[in-house]
Amino acid sequence: MVNYHVLTLFPDMVAEGLNTSILGRAAAKGLLSVEAINIRDYTKEKHGHVDDAPYGGGAGMVMQAAPICDAYDALCSRLGKRPRVLYMTPQGRVFNQKLAQELAREEDLVFLCGHYEGVDERALELIATDYLSIGDYVLTGGELPAMVMIDCISRLIPGVLNNGASAEFESFHDNLLEYPQYTRPESYRGQKVPEVLLSGHHKNIEAWRREQSIRRTWERRPDLLEKAQLSPKEKGYLETIAKPAHG
Ligand code: ADE
Repeated sequence: MVNYHVLTLFPDMVAEGLNTSILGRAAAKGLLSVEAINIRDYTKEKHGHVDDAPYGGGAGMVMQAAPICDAYDALCSRLGKRPRVLYMTPQGRVFNQKLAQELAREEDLVFLCGHYEGVDERALELIATDYLSIGDYVLTGGELPAMVMIDCISRLIPGVLNNGASAEFESFHDNLLEYPQYTRPESYRGQKVPEVLLSGHHKNIEAWRREQSIRRTWERRPDLLEKAQLSPKEKGYLETIAKPAHG
């Protein structure tokens, strides 16, 4: 069970984006909860402003510290604890599967989504515990990164995926990419399903899939192979792909 609390100026975007499909079903089953908190509800200014021009000049607007910190404090009073606050920023550590596994063990997670030119540094100093990015590119706000991370973390919560085993056997588990999958029909536009998958021989199927994972990782993400745990036999197989015999 993970309870997500998203501090945002666009609560509808977050709430609507996360209440569909697998995550919506998981929330209905009580395996997780998503709460989008509108930072604007915590402004004390009469015009409802949550941003202002940067001190020192420059383009754009900066989100003010007070509504953000007040929204977080109100949440903490309600929860009776001060959960981890993940600030979405391209300046952060790049999110990955390993971090998702760590975060899936938390009971409450707060995502702070910035907009405009950023957030007043004092709010970050006061409440942010982690600075996280989803990759080396710049988005207009932190909502999509928060949704990406919530999706990724949630599928690791037991019961969220129908098949309890499947989260473990996918791409990046063990630093190998997933093997190719096939379903009916046996032949499509002249392309046949690999014979071994029709054999019913489970050991051979397992061995074929493992080899495909290794081959695919070598072809598409060779950087991952350095961290993969391969048996001596599998290392031998890798050498046959990496250095094909000349004939
Ligand atoms: N905000 C804007 N761009 C971002 C990124 N790449 N990751 C996380 N937060 C962001």
